[in-house]
Formats: sequence, C-alpha cells, structure tokens
Amino acid sequence: MKTSGNTILLTGGGTGIGRELARRWHDAGNVVIVTGRRLGSLEETARDRQNIHAFAVDVADPTAIAAFARDILSRFPALNVLVNNAGIMPLEDVSVSRDLSSAEACVTTNLLGPIRMTDALIEHLRGQGDAAIVNVSSGLAFVPLVGAAVYSATKAAIHSWTDSLRFALKDVVEVIELAPPAVQTELTPGQSTRGGYMPLDAFIDEVMGLFVRQPTPELIGVERLAFLRNAEAEGRYEQTFTTLNGSAH
Ligand SMILES: NC(=O)c1ccc[n+]([C@@H]2O[C@H](COP(=O)([O-])OP(=O)(O)OC[C@H]3O[C@@H](n4cnc5c(N)ncnc54)[C@H](OP(=O)(O)O)[C@@H]3O)[C@@H](O)[C@H]2O)c1
Repeated sequence: MKTSGNTILLTGGGTGIGRELARRWHDAGNVVIVTGRRLGSLEETARDRQNIHAFAVDVADPTAIAAFARDILSRFPALNVLVNNAGIMPLEDVSVSRDLSSAEACVTTNLLGPIRMTDALIEHLRGQGDAAIVNVSSGLAFVPLVGAAVYSATKAAIHSWTDSLRFALKDVVEVIELAPPAVQTELTPGQSTRGGYMPLDAFIDEVMGLFVRQPTPELIGVERLAFLRNAEAEGRYEQTFTTLNGSAH
C-alpha cells in the first residue's frame, strides 16, 4: 500500500483506532473519507483537517451501504483503499438462553458489514492502480475471549475471509489484515483507561511504522499481538486460553 497519495475510505472513523488512523493517514498526505453512525464524532475527526471528509453510514444496513458506495464513487472517483474498521464488542454469557439481539448485531456489523462494503466497492477497486483493502480483525481472532464469544468468532471469520480475499485478488488488490491486541479505546465501557491495555497513541505509532514498510506486511501486528497470534504455533494455545479466560469452573 502506498503511504501517501491514496484516497482512503475508512469505516468507524469517529472514535478510537479509526479516528487516529484517519488523522495519521491524512497528515501523511492522503485524502480520507470517514464513516460511522454518529456524524458529530466524524466531524470532530475531520476538524482542522481539510482532506478528511465525514459521512454518516450504518454498516449494518445493506441498502445504505449500496447507496453510499454509489454516491462516494461519484464524489471520489480516485478512491483506491477501503479500510473495514467499524466494529462492536458486546459482552455476553453464552451458557444461558438470552436475548440474541446484540449477538446478531455483532455478526451483522463486524462480519456482514465488511463483506457488504467490500462487495459494493470491489469492481471499482479492481480498476484502480495501487488498490488495497485493510480488514481490522483482533488478537481474539486467534484465541477467543469467552465473555465476548460471538465477537471473537466474527474476528476469526474476518481473519479467514481476509486470507481468501488476498489469494483471490492477488496482483489486483493488495489485501492487508490489521489485528490489534487490547488497546485503550471505548470499544467496551471503561476500556480506554483499563490498565494492561495498550495506550492508543503507542499502538498507532507502532502500526504506522509497519504500514510504511514496503512491501506492506500482510498482517499488521504490533509486538503485543504475538501473545495471542503465536499461541497455537508455539504450542501454548491451551495455556494462553486459560490465561485469557481463567480456569474452568
Ligand atoms: N480496542 C481494542 O482493544 C481492539 C482490539 C482488537 C480489535 N479492535 C477492533 O478495532 C476496530 C475499532 O475499534 P475501537 O477499539 O477503535 O473501538 P471504537 O472506538 O468503539 O470504534 C468503533 C467504531 O465503529 C463504529 N461503528 C460501530 N457500529 C457501526 C455501524 N453499525 N455502522 C458504522 N459504524 C459503526 C463506531 O461509530 P458509531 O458508533 O458512531 O457508529 C466507532 O467509531 C473494531 O473493529 C474493533 O473490533 C479493537
């Protein structure tokens, strides 16, 4: 992926990791389009940055995605990078029968959202020079957190789908996975100040250092990701699962 001169569409750009990526990419000389459900927070991301453009789009709404894709390509025909970052992380107890609305919203937002957004833009991206798709997964794609079981499953699916996309789009569109470890954002309540989580600035610094490497790594993984990412390959999956989730009752 080029480091400047891109026109980047980034979902979930009004807060957290998405906001900071948008600002860094903008400041490095890219045009960045940020989307999310709350226009106010997107406009805050864009404040004092002429080449960040804010649009409210709900990635859980397939009709809205299709209409948005048509509109954005007419406004920004140079669009060449899609970053599927928007996500939600409901905490849940999967051992009991429950209202599934938040689990279903998690699948729709985290998995169907990227699939639909990519589908709406893929024919355009195939025709662009230097096209790239960046999918944001998670360390929990590699070892699940039981208290966020459906979330972890959506991220494992994003990892798998990204591998397939990369193979299918070889030499046509570059496909990159960005897998954050636990980072201080408001993805879950109170997380932005939780001890042991990576400070957002330090995370973004390390990520941007990886994005400037040429060729861009297929997996953008900061050093802290290795604990989860390499657990299985290093023969410590069960031990890591227990460390993450505590002992069985
Ligand atoms: N922070 C971590 O520890 C961590 C670790 C691993 C992976 N990740 C992943 O990193 C990505 C960014 O998360 P974050 O930590 O930066 O949390 P965040 O601050 O909560 O960001 C998530 C963003 O997604 C947007 N979003 C949620 N549902 C949406 C929908 N239906 N349509 C459009 N936008 C939607 C939200 O904006 P609106 O509410 O305005 O729509 C929000 O700006 C997520 O995919 C997350 O799973 C984070």
